[in-house]
Amino acid sequence: MTRLDNNQSWTSDSYDTHARFVSRLAGEVVEWLDIKPGEKLLDLACGDGDLTVELAKAGADVIGIDSSSELLAAARQKGVDARLMDGQAIDFENQFDAVFSNAALHWMLDQDSVLNGVHKALKPQGRFVAEFGGHGNVAAIVTAMRAVAIHRGGDVSLANPWFFPSPPVYRQMLEEHGFTVKRIGLFPRPTALATGMAQWLKLFRQPFFEQFGDQMDDALSEVEELLRPALCDARSAWTADYVRLRFEAVKS
Ligand code: BEZ
Repeated sequence: MTRLDNNQSWTSDSYDTHARFVSRLAGEVVEWLDIKPGEKLLDLACGDGDLTVELAKAGADVIGIDSSSELLAAARQKGVDARLMDGQAIDFENQFDAVFSNAALHWMLDQDSVLNGVHKALKPQGRFVAEFGGHGNVAAIVTAMRAVAIHRGGDVSLANPWFFPSPPVYRQMLEEHGFTVKRIGLFPRPTALATGMAQWLKLFRQPFFEQFGDQMDDALSEVEELLRPALCDARSAWTADYVRLRFEAVKS
């Protein structure tokens, strides 16, 4: 079991079963990265290495970093040069042609440290290309959890521990940290949850539900029922209301 700084945890098995879509849906941001053969690439928060392997197949010489030992072990089994390093404490200097990240930056609340570390790790004119949750991401899911926390006298702040910036906000942050933004955009990307909403909630927002102790399952059902009209279709297929922020920036 991996426990992240913000008390969220998962195993590589549960991630594989309930969140495999994360790497499968990364095609467009990989296109934005536009890998040239032999380029030195840092995969920031590489997770279990599924996508890192694809970056290497495209010709990059890739190092992956992640703060989860368990996910790193899974990445190493796939042949990835995977190293234990927090994205908020990157320790490379002037080494990479590009830094890439998919579906991870929204977990890193200390963005000043992330952007300083990425800037330092890149060679001059190096690219920073990433996609993560943007403004409005999982808004219905967060609102349902907030409603249940209020109704049950719980801690509302546990419903939304993430960083989901809008393009103007993140553009300004990139510029303040020495990047020139080539392109940046916000894209709704409703995402099918093959194993359902309850599994997604348990995988990604465990600390929220743990606060209700032996009422945890009731709170979970309540969130699910609030979401059903908006995110579950007549065939009982669930969708998560994902919104992606994608950008390409250059070290200036
Ligand atoms: C996301 O990829 O947008 C995401 C994943 C887990 C929790 C919150 C957001």
